[in-house]
Amino acid sequence: MNAKPHRNTIFVEDATVLSHQAHDAGQYILRVQAPRCAAHAEPGSFVHLSCDPMLPLRRPLSIMRVDPEAGWVEFLYKAVGYGTGLLARRAKGDTISLMGPIGRPFAPHPQRRRPLLIGGGVGIPPMVFLADRLRRQPDYSPFAILGSEVPFPFRAKPSQIMLSGVPEGVIAAMPLLEDWGIPSRLASLRGYAGCHEGYVTDLARHWLDGLSAEARAEVEIFACGPHPMLAAVASLARDFDLPAQVSLEEYMACAVGGCAGCTVRVNTPEGPAMKRVCVDGPVFDAAMVAFGH
Ligand SMILES: Cc1cc2nc3c(=O)[nH]c(=O)nc-3n(C[C@H](O)[C@H](O)[C@H](O)COP(=O)(O)OP(=O)(O)OC[C@H]3O[C@@H](n4cnc5c(N)ncnc54)[C@H](O)[C@@H]3O)c2cc1C
Ligand code: FES
Repeated sequence: MNAKPHRNTIFVEDATVLSHQAHDAGQYILRVQAPRCAAHAEPGSFVHLSCDPMLPLRRPLSIMRVDPEAGWVEFLYKAVGYGTGLLARRAKGDTISLMGPIGRPFAPHPQRRRPLLIGGGVGIPPMVFLADRLRRQPDYSPFAILGSEVPFPFRAKPSQIMLSGVPEGVIAAMPLLEDWGIPSRLASLRGYAGCHEGYVTDLARHWLDGLSAEARAEVEIFACGPHPMLAAVASLARDFDLPAQVSLEEYMACAVGGCAGCTVRVNTPEGPAMKRVCVDGPVFDAAMVAFGH
């Protein structure tokens, strides 16, 4: 996997909608034909897409899956406002202008063979993409914890992959990851069957507590989700002295580094600095992000 940003490999493509499925709570899974984006995307990359020809400002969405051979790119998004509401109306066969892939992707450390993937809500997509890449590298043994406070956009199934450190009865898993042989567990405060009733980070703590010191030293955390969740992930990483990479979301206008509309405060060895989420991120070292600002 490549940690470099992709500013010289951002393409604008007229992507054809291949499928567009509606799920509970205004969630959608959209698959489009966009071969150049599919060929260059890395886990953590996002696209800036035109939700409707009448809406000038594009909206950013993380990439959930790609098939470079078939040339498609898939997204999971929630219709929360005007832009994503218009996007939800696009049908199979429509054309969507897509700019991407954009951003600095996740960069798993070669010696940290137990990646812990934590995705919350519409932060799940980059974790699925990362899991897809990691499963092709047999040295890694990833574990994914996914959380949602609305029904998951897939039918959870009891996992056949046993894990130590996970509370008894927490067996709900994402079928796609299960099919890939990657253990996953789901968390929610909503009391969904088989899910951990609590936060994703509580479940992560249980799992980390159950590991030997040797195994724990091989863990690296990757996360995407709402800011409070990412702040909790940063604190979890600090408590266990583990490296963590988090993918941030900010309002974006240009998404190519030109407008400085997406800056966040980070702490660098030289002191506080403002970084652009679109091109300096969206993936950052959790220890650097000033979550309170
Ligand atoms: C790098 C990146 C990746 C993203 N990936 C996904 C994804 O995979 N799936 C997904 O559903 N969403 C994702 N988002 C968020 C998505 O871009 C916004 O929900 C979308 O732009 C909202 O546009 P809108 O016109 O529908 O809503 P608006 O009318 O602009 O806003 C509606 C609501 O969404 C909130 N909102 C809007 N934009 C953001 C933002 N950037 N960050 C936090 N809150 C916001 C507003 O506070 C408001 O409550 C991502 C954002 C970024 C920056
Ligand atoms: S959105 Fe313009 S610099 Fe990031």
